[in-house]
Amino acid sequence: MLPERVRVVEVGPRDGLQNEPLTVPAEEKVRLVNGLAGAGLGYIEVGSFVAPKWVPQMADTASVFAAIEHLPGVVYAALTPNLRGLESAMASGVREVAVFAAASEGFSQRNINCSIAQSLERFEPVLALALKQGMRVRGYVSCVLGCPYDGDIRPEQVRDVAQALLDMGCYEVSLGDTIGVGTAGSTRKLIDVVSQRVPRHQLAGHFHNTYGQALANVYASLLEGVAVFDSAIGGLGGCPYAKGASGNLATEDLLYLLHGLGIHTGVDLEAVVRLSQQFNATLGRLPDSRVTRAAMGSSHAYPAPP
Ligand code: HMG
Ligand code: MG
Repeated sequence: MLPERVRVVEVGPRDGLQNEPLTVPAEEKVRLVNGLAGAGLGYIEVGSFVAPKWVPQMADTASVFAAIEHLPGVVYAALTPNLRGLESAMASGVREVAVFAAASEGFSQRNINCSIAQSLERFEPVLALALKQGMRVRGYVSCVLGCPYDGDIRPEQVRDVAQALLDMGCYEVSLGDTIGVGTAGSTRKLIDVVSQRVPRHQLAGHFHNTYGQALANVYASLLEGVAVFDSAIGGLGGCPYAKGASGNLATEDLLYLLHGLGIHTGVDLEAVVRLSQQFNATLGRLPDSRVTRAAMGSSHAYPAPP
């Protein structure tokens, strides 16, 4: 049975813009975040408190947090790889953060410069302090369906890392198909195995669309009882440490699927399409969303939100 409601986690300002060749000015980021909240997105990953040497595009995250409107009921989150990142997030008034691990050693080393075991050790004090402060912490596992360095990934590897994140206090674990190689079949198998240790209602799907399979993987996940999905407006993004990885599933395309299935999201698809066009115009390119591109040339009505 499909869920009645899905929570959409908008990762465009972070996962999208961390991969832009040029740093987008902070005021454009602020306009984007405010526009997303105005369109009804209730969870927005605004940026990350990581080493600016590693990801210079996110170096202005504190200024972005200082300038955005804070609508009541909207979660404005940030990625924090270590205690230093958490302390910076706290100084910016952030109330929800995410830690990010990987299912493969190769990606862990390239992305955060340590082994999987070391990363989990590093997250322990982050979780301890964040939870003590009453903050919520989300966990990511990257490369759940394939790794650009280590190749195939066994679902059991993902399951063990996801369980470790849950055990240390993450309320939800987002399964990242970082390089978008998963299929509906491998996605179903993955959820089946991971849910042996992490309840399905605490799982989220994070599908990059490199091979055009992200929507199919969302549908497969819905059939498996997952009801939280990450997406990026205009299909922005990729990962600086996963060469060739394209953007996330576009938020517009995700909403079109969900609303067509009669699933509530609370998000205004038309407003997201307009914002996607505007924001991509500031980047000087077309949105990587089939829905937004189609909307630019037609007057076809969207599926009515339930
Ligand atoms: P390191 O070099 O091993 O750590 O980096 P270090 O402790 O030796 O620090 C190196 C320098 O960074 C030092 O500065 C630190 O002060 C500074 P220096 O003395 O050389 O001038 N530093 C920091 N500065 C600001 N904020 C901090 C911070 N920490 C250290 N928090 C580290 C280790 C984890 C910091 C580094 O590898 C890093 O920042 N990596 C970030 C990688 C990243 O952001 N990747 C993209 C996000 S993950 C992703 O996209 C996947 C996801 O979307 C899911 C999916 O698709 O699968 C989530
Ligand atoms: Mg990602």
